[in-house]
Amino acid sequence: MSLFNVYPLFDITPITAKDVYVFDKEGIRYLDLYGGHAVISIGHSHPVYVKKVSEQLSELGFYSNAIQNPLQIELSQKLTQLSSCEDYQLFLCNSGAEANENALKLASFHTGKKKVLAFKNSFHGRTSAAVAATDNPKIVAPINAQQEVEFVELGDLVAVENALEKKDICAVIIEVIQGVGGLDESTTAFYQGLEQLCKKYHTLLIADEVQSGFGRTGDFFAFQKHNITPDVISMAKGMGNGFPIGGIFIHPAIKASFGLLGTTFGGNHLACAASLAVLKVIEEESLLQNVKKLSQYFEEKAAAISNIKSIKGRGLMLGLEFDFPIGALRKKLIFKHHIFTGSAKNPNLLRILPPLIVQKKHIDMFFEALKKEL
Ligand SMILES: Cc1ncc(COP(=O)(O)O)c(C=O)c1O
Repeated sequence: MSLFNVYPLFDITPITAKDVYVFDKEGIRYLDLYGGHAVISIGHSHPVYVKKVSEQLSELGFYSNAIQNPLQIELSQKLTQLSSCEDYQLFLCNSGAEANENALKLASFHTGKKKVLAFKNSFHGRTSAAVAATDNPKIVAPINAQQEVEFVELGDLVAVENALEKKDICAVIIEVIQGVGGLDESTTAFYQGLEQLCKKYHTLLIADEVQSGFGRTGDFFAFQKHNITPDVISMAKGMGNGFPIGGIFIHPAIKASFGLLGTTFGGNHLACAASLAVLKVIEEESLLQNVKKLSQYFEEKAAAISNIKSIKGRGLMLGLEFDFPIGALRKKLIFKHHIFTGSAKNPNLLRILPPLIVQKKHIDMFFEALKKEL
């Protein structure tokens, strides 16, 4: 049987990884400044992570959501402590798309409405409602297109109000910093205005923190910079450092009832252990501070290179915009300099999403390689 050929693959076969490095079968060492799509948060094969997940596996790897699972309670408590998001309820699932799908579904249950407002250039995943709220017609199948979604420009509060005043929208879903779309972020006035409009029209505000959450921006969640309180917060990627886990924080006004949401695998023992290990390392190694420090260092180095048109994003969710498509440059970085970076919908944007443990010497390696190729 052949694999369903949906991924354009680089001809590299990693077999081991450690910290910010990935090693292929020829023993070539690659500097990982992409973290497998922003997933590797505490670094590859972190000893705390390996120990916690291995020990959990040897005790109890999985049981379904029909029994008491104290690891879920521990995870919810640790998440409250590190995120400072008090008073939310936690629902666990397996991926970013699933987190958003459940968030949208909850908004519809809670408000009794069915339309969604999303933003141009958004990416929210590939499941039914999540993909319909994604601004990329190429990945929306006719079955998904049945969802009613309106797209407005990021930052356009007038357009938001024009849409919400029809009073048929259950949720506004937003990436505070757009990931795949190209790292655009609006102003605090916009995010606060959005929150107020959602309240005014009885619409839930969903912050999609799948990529920007779990410390990637130097705050636990990207929305925290803007001092807003979303009704639902979705997360995944960095949450498990590679173990599939996602989740949503749910405002207490949204009431649970048996069977309202559900999943077989979500919140299983191994997934909780993985995420608990991630939180432990984030705390013990002060990774949020590291993100801020290294982000500043990266931006200083980037500012010194005249070919870079703009530096986008914040924390370790960064992009370098050039005035040419970055495809060839990215290939040179991978095959000549052995450095993984990422692309975006904007063809001129090189994305940098390293593990949060990255150090100055790794940033130096990147800029030395970049300078040689520019
Ligand atoms: C902001 C955002 N939301 C949702 C998703 C979907 O996550 P997953 O691929 O885990 O389903 C992604 C993935 O790139 C993302 O960046």
